[in-house]
Amino acid sequence: MTFDAIFQPLRFRSLTVKNRIFRSNVSGRFDNYDGSGNPTRINWETKFARGGVGAIISSFVPVHLRGRIVPNYAMIDHDRHIPFWRAVGRAVHEYDCRFILQLSHGGRQRDINGIEYPIGLSSTSKSDPLHGFRCEAMTTAQITETVAHFAEGARRAREAGLDGVELHGANGYLITQFLSSAINDRTDEYGGSLENRARFVLEVVRAIRARVGKDFHLQMKISAQEFDDALAFLGLGSSGNTLQESVQVCQWLVEAGVDAIHVSSGSFFPHPRNPAGADFPVEDLVKSYDTMISNGERTFANFLLFKGAGGLARRRWNQAAGPPEEIEGKNLPDARAIKAAVSVPVICTGGFQTASVIAKALGAGDCDAVSIARPLIANNDLVEVFRSGRDRAEKPCTYCNRCLVNVVENPLGCYDETRFPSRDAMVAQIMSVFDPPPFVETV
Ligand SMILES: Cc1cc2nc3c(=O)[nH]c(=O)nc-3n(C[C@H](O)[C@H](O)[C@H](O)COP(=O)(O)O)c2cc1C
Ligand code: SF4
Repeated sequence: MTFDAIFQPLRFRSLTVKNRIFRSNVSGRFDNYDGSGNPTRINWETKFARGGVGAIISSFVPVHLRGRIVPNYAMIDHDRHIPFWRAVGRAVHEYDCRFILQLSHGGRQRDINGIEYPIGLSSTSKSDPLHGFRCEAMTTAQITETVAHFAEGARRAREAGLDGVELHGANGYLITQFLSSAINDRTDEYGGSLENRARFVLEVVRAIRARVGKDFHLQMKISAQEFDDALAFLGLGSSGNTLQESVQVCQWLVEAGVDAIHVSSGSFFPHPRNPAGADFPVEDLVKSYDTMISNGERTFANFLLFKGAGGLARRRWNQAAGPPEEIEGKNLPDARAIKAAVSVPVICTGGFQTASVIAKALGAGDCDAVSIARPLIANNDLVEVFRSGRDRAEKPCTYCNRCLVNVVENPLGCYDETRFPSRDAMVAQIMSVFDPPPFVETV
């Protein structure tokens, strides 16, 4: 069987990608505490470039120290980081793979604060409801500064020779905190109506265009539907932005100069629907969540809930996630609606790992490309599997989400032991990211 639709090049306004599979934003805490890069990240990204993806979209790259979500993620907040990102770009370019850097600011949503800025910035002064990370509402001056930080990040990415940037406007981070009707409680010109809530991200887009010009690829990841009430049993809010509102925001983004839309969902992260799991891995979560206990106002209570009432937490989360058979292509209906309303290509994320499903979505015009995270962690060579005519990898990703709950504490890799001949084989796969080692060991 051939899956020709997957292997057609995709032309954006100023970027061409050789096929329709993008590595979605994902990485472990492989870099240095101070935000400088580390060769382990190059090993990580190279795995996917070698495996045949057309483009890699980086994980969360903070544009400012106060916007980081966890230490040990490489940043783009200073010119001194340009050489590192240049090295990352060169390494993946060797495989004719493009590299798009995700410009990010966490706002109030974090995993581990780090020592520099224990209190985050946001559209609101309400703590994040999941973990209770404290924050303060940004002043107009802080908004203006943050817009400039995004523009400088884009300029640095361009100087590093990367192929484009993506705004992390999805999953509850700072841009979502402005866009979301469930989160943004401002009474100034950045809150209230949809137009006001979109003002921050549109200012970011215009500032980036003013800084890097028209011919540098710029895309936006957006949560088309927020489902902020998915954990209503924890007292979490209204449903948040609707698909219709997001369609309007996407139209404004394109008018302002965005070249592609990357469709996701959820007003916080992780969210039952993103990354949607087959079963909430509460036992693994208890082993790593301790890392976060001292950081948020609700983290200790959450830890006790996961430890003492794990069955309940698992049932509630699974209910909100929906049936496992609906994970693959979960966001496709939203991607289709957005694609019908905008003139730029649309990339869809969420569960993709079957060539015939992807080819069908592309053929039907639901989206122009798919982005894949967990199934590529499970099978780095998935694109080559498809190229050889196989519909699925021999051992597909089980959507167990053990990779996700381990990542705050342990290296990122596949943690589903059932996919490996032994636990040792699983550990060897995880640890392979440190080969070659990041520094020269002395005897
Ligand atoms: C461990 C892990 C880390 C992630 N980090 C990011 C991130 O930094 N930025 C982002 O936009 N999405 C992030 N995501 C979401 C993925 O990019 C992807 O959109 C989501 O997992 C759904 O795709 P999948 O079903 O192919 O995994 C992460 C997902 C996982 C599992
Ligand atoms: S741990 Fe492995 S099988 Fe489970 S979701 Fe992550 S990549 Fe997929």
